[in-house]
Amino acid sequence: MIRTDLIHPKNTTVSTFVAMGGYGKVFKGKYTQPATEDGPEEEIDVAIKRIHDYDNEKNDRCKRVGREIDILKKLKGNNEFIEPLHIYRAPADKNDQSLYIVMPFVPQTAHGVARNIELRQSADYVEVVVKLIIAQVLSGLQKMHAHQLYHRDMSSSNILVDLDNNFAYISDFGLSRASPLGGNEMLTPMVVTLPFRALELLLDPSAKGGYSPALLDLWGVGMIMWELLTGSSVQGADEIKQAILIINTIFGGKLEFDFWKNYNNGSTKNATAFLEKNQAKLASGTAFPEHITSTSQACQDVLFKLLSQIPDKRGSAAEILDMPWFDDEYVKEALTFLRSNQPASDIDYAQDVDPTAAFFDEIAPRLTEEEFQMTTIKHTSSKTLPSSAPLTQV
Ligand SMILES: Nc1ncnc2c1ncn2[C@@H]1O[C@H](COP(=O)(O)OP(=O)(O)O)[C@@H](O)[C@H]1O
Ligand SMILES: [Mg+2]
Repeated sequence: MIRTDLIHPKNTTVSTFVAMGGYGKVFKGKYTQPATEDGPEEEIDVAIKRIHDYDNEKNDRCKRVGREIDILKKLKGNNEFIEPLHIYRAPADKNDQSLYIVMPFVPQTAHGVARNIELRQSADYVEVVVKLIIAQVLSGLQKMHAHQLYHRDMSSSNILVDLDNNFAYISDFGLSRASPLGGNEMLTPMVVTLPFRALELLLDPSAKGGYSPALLDLWGVGMIMWELLTGSSVQGADEIKQAILIINTIFGGKLEFDFWKNYNNGSTKNATAFLEKNQAKLASGTAFPEHITSTSQACQDVLFKLLSQIPDKRGSAAEILDMPWFDDEYVKEALTFLRSNQPASDIDYAQDVDPTAAFFDEIAPRLTEEEFQMTTIKHTSSKTLPSSAPLTQV
């Protein structure tokens, strides 16, 4: 199928369809980076994320897009995150209600890495590749959480990985929030892709006390690490099956009965009702996969700290980075480098975005008609991939 898509004036061309996301498509393209003090003009691969219907107020799409861009801008200059090169829209009179985010192209996701059998068999996979991915993700979360920013959609498809350099980037801030309270305020339970959703959210989706968004993010990292180690995610068909699968796979069938009975001061009965109904489905004594038991104790300590059943026991990203598994020269070097850049502290992180027309005019300028005509190119679109599919090399 031949289709036409908008590209950035002069210096971006769209070539290939990469992935289908929840709110649009991601394309691969080329971008000519202007010469800088450090070097000459350079052509680089870019990903172009097209978010269609971006200003739909009815389904709150504009708030989501606004937050995503706002957070990307706040995190600029920090190497744990993907930095947008351009954000733009079509001319107002065009029938194109899309917003385009151009960013450096990163060839893999953690989802794809986990399924790379050859790589997973290499001697330094766990201690170098997985360790560096998890360290960078935790370093990114440490920065976000320190500024009351919460990702809320940690999943293996949202971690981009450059295997040549062992770089990992947290991406897709579509569900992220800045929270002035930083704690247990009520957040919608409709967050986090199911295989990465923490047990407390599955057991008690309407908990009155809300959840700590930082602890939900950490659970997500635990599930990403599980997937990287075992080659597959823990994936149930619905919330209840997911909870049962987690309890059986990760907690050996054992639920901390007293804790869940009193969870949220017993203010809701959901967790207890779940236990009463599903007691029989909990299989005690399930063994861990060999992919887990064959790793070092230090590695398992990190995994099971992230996947603590009792949310508070997960601690914080900073605490986990202090665990012995990360006590390696190359990891310390990477972390020291990452910590040398920090989000600007003078930004008001507590302020939620107000996605008005003026807001979008400022962050995503519209192309002129001339630019639009000049930069529309034809490209072929390959078959549609689900957003969780590993990136195909193009
Ligand atoms: N910078 C990038 N480089 C390469 N691929 C990317 C990039 N950003 C996103 N992708 C691919 O597109 C998919 C969807 O992008 P994402 O930002 O997660 O959007 P959605 O909100 O639709 O999930 C990702 O899982 C990844 O496979
Ligand atoms: Mg995504």
